Amino acid sequence: MASNQNKIEKFENIDLEIPLILEAIYQKYGYDFRKYSRSHIKRRLVHRLAISNLESVSQLQDKVLREKDFFIELLEDLSINVTEMFRDPEFYSSFRENVVPILRTYPFIKIWHAGCSTGEEVYSFAILLREEGILKRCQIYATDFNRKVLEIAKQGIYPIRDLEHFERNYEKSGGKSKLSDFYTMKYGSIKLDQSLVKKVVFADHNLVTDSVFAEIDLIICRNVLIYFNRDLQNKVINLFYDSLSSSGHLCLGSKESLKFTAKENCFADIDEKQKIYKKSLSKSCIKL
Ligand SMILES: C[S@@+](CC[C@H](N)C(=O)[O-])C[C@H]1O[C@@H](n2cnc3c(N)ncnc32)[C@H](O)[C@@H]1O
Repeated sequence: MASNQNKIEKFENIDLEIPLILEAIYQKYGYDFRKYSRSHIKRRLVHRLAISNLESVSQLQDKVLREKDFFIELLEDLSINVTEMFRDPEFYSSFRENVVPILRTYPFIKIWHAGCSTGEEVYSFAILLREEGILKRCQIYATDFNRKVLEIAKQGIYPIRDLEHFERNYEKSGGKSKLSDFYTMKYGSIKLDQSLVKKVVFADHNLVTDSVFAEIDLIICRNVLIYFNRDLQNKVINLFYDSLSSSGHLCLGSKESLKFTAKENCFADIDEKQKIYKKSLSKSCIKL
């Protein structure tokens, strides 16, 4: 089987053609991938070229511009939607220990899950917040730029094949009861408790082109910035900084960090290993 490198070498002008197709997509459809990590974009385009039997990115561009349905398929390729319940369980235990006691003191808590994919992470948090007795006080927004995953997220129904893994994660995360207290089984699927599902407002929001949310107490954006280049990471972290309330918390994914970003000094580490940060207000930060 050809290695990924061999596949990439087959398309000799790919590095020249990528900026052109990304610009064309932006001009035609308004989706801006120009500052996504180039290696991520290249891998996904090569994948699409291979399964579509196309010879070059120029041919792909031509098809994308002519056929909206083909563009939607490419959009799926470019947005990686891998997720799971209680992903990286140690992150959840740290959150319980270090952030929940602070949230407990708030009369009302506004939460934004950015890049929520099919919703497993959002419901994991809702379960944790219910166990900690503060879910009632929370208003939860969950956003993604991929409408297809948002439709799945709104249902809160997941294949049973993932259940064992979810259960293990839940236990490791310090779950206080049994995950089965929060779902029912139906025709090979698990259906999450409707009171959790109804608690969340799902919405289409693009982190690159859309604007801030106001006065958010907690932003969870895990495993999204990893697909962006440094410039775009800075832009999105600025967006989070502006969206957070004065001592709001920010949670990133295990391979992401505020280190070396323009706002590095504008957040305090709550748990650097688990990528949990708290906004700090200093004049220099506000001007950045
Ligand atoms: C790997 S998933 C992460 C899901 C979840 N946060 C987790 O960690 O399990 C990345 C998600 O980010 C979304 N995404 C990528 N670029 C985005 C953008 N510009 N605006 C909003 N969502 C975006 C993708 O559609 C995808 O659902």
